[in-house]
Amino acid sequence: MKVLLVKNYEEMSKEAADIIGKLVKENPSCTLGLATGSSPIGTYQNLVKMNKEGKISFKDVKTYNLDEYCGIDRTHPQSYYYFMHDNLFNHVDIKEENTHVPYAAPGSDLDKEAQKYTDMLNKVTIDLQLLGIGGNGHIGFNEPGTPFDRETFVVKLTDKTRQDNKRFFNSLDEVPTHAMTMGIKNIMNAKSILMLISGANKHDAVTKLLSEEITTDFPASVLHNHPNCTVIIDEAAYTGK
Ligand code: F6R
Repeated sequence: MKVLLVKNYEEMSKEAADIIGKLVKENPSCTLGLATGSSPIGTYQNLVKMNKEGKISFKDVKTYNLDEYCGIDRTHPQSYYYFMHDNLFNHVDIKEENTHVPYAAPGSDLDKEAQKYTDMLNKVTIDLQLLGIGGNGHIGFNEPGTPFDRETFVVKLTDKTRQDNKRFFNSLDEVPTHAMTMGIKNIMNAKSILMLISGANKHDAVTKLLSEEITTDFPASVLHNHPNCTVIIDEAAYTGK
């Protein structure tokens, strides 16, 4: 695991966008695994800027998102489908048919959709998987205790994760109880992994990650087994201050 220490969120976002931008330039038809949440927003803003300036094109780039909440429509502003369009897809020259987000809207057959996503993932190679980290060490929505060999599945979110994500909703009651997520096996199949960690609230997670103990109790620890994983950590997350 390669660790890059940076000053703050802005530097982290710039560094991450440079890494992704370089990959897109070298391999214009690459496949990216994408994340949502606060961590990658600045990275996406930098990528949009690079695209608008003509430095990179997403014309032939394919994307697969990590996860989606169950039971909310894609038109819901907190759905990850909406988030990706709002923060990236609507602002770059990517083709809609090249973007993929798990489908878990009300009325969908969740088990069938999860299997469909796994089947799709098993037909492609993700060149770079972007990740954030949950306060409890989750990656995607693989909560503590998830076996490392799981593929896309429907997960019951922990109270900690629902509390953490309450900030995006009007109340805790509105936070979905379940999500569909790539499994750890799907994530580990990526050729390279780029994890973003910013903010003092992630300090405990950083300490556990850097302790190098590999355990399903702390899902992100599996990344120590990945041959090409870079983690960008900002000062606040590293020091807790
Ligand atoms: C999001 C995802 C989650 C987040 C994690 C951190 O697609 O898979 O694992 O990366 O919950 O969220 P933020 O970045 O909001 O702190």
